Amino acid sequence: MSRNGDLDALFSAAKAAQQRAYAPYSRFKVGAAILTDGGALVSGCNVENAAYPQGACAEANAIGAMVLSGAARIAEILVIGDGAALCTPCGGCRQRIREFADGATRVHVAGPEGVRKTYTLEQLLPDSFGPEHLGR
Ligand code: THU
Repeated sequence: MSRNGDLDALFSAAKAAQQRAYAPYSRFKVGAAILTDGGALVSGCNVENAAYPQGACAEANAIGAMVLSGAARIAEILVIGDGAALCTPCGGCRQRIREFADGATRVHVAGPEGVRKTYTLEQLLPDSFGPEHLGR
């Protein structure tokens, strides 16, 4: 189980990232924060584009920040969005997370008030394809 301090720090980092989101088209701002295996926090926000398919999700940008930081694995990830519905990672981002996480890795989904639900990656992406399939 993550320590409460870790979860609080993840939530704060994701919320700060969400405020930086560039989402003029959907007006749906998302933030994501990753606790790396080394104990560092990295974050990202969604960045949309006038050519809609070129937009990037918050999780993808947080993963980019993690790789740039030199970290190799996601220990936990938290995603935050507004609205009543759970802001669960899209299918593509589930696979992006999978590259750097295990089935047991926790994926927290939050709203402005705090964490709403915690999944394992296996719950979100069962029987997934990953680096091991390619001998990595
Ligand atoms: N979005 C994310 O950044 N992450 C998610 O988990 C769900 C969706 C973004 C993509 C787009 O900029 C906006 O939310 C609406 O789909």
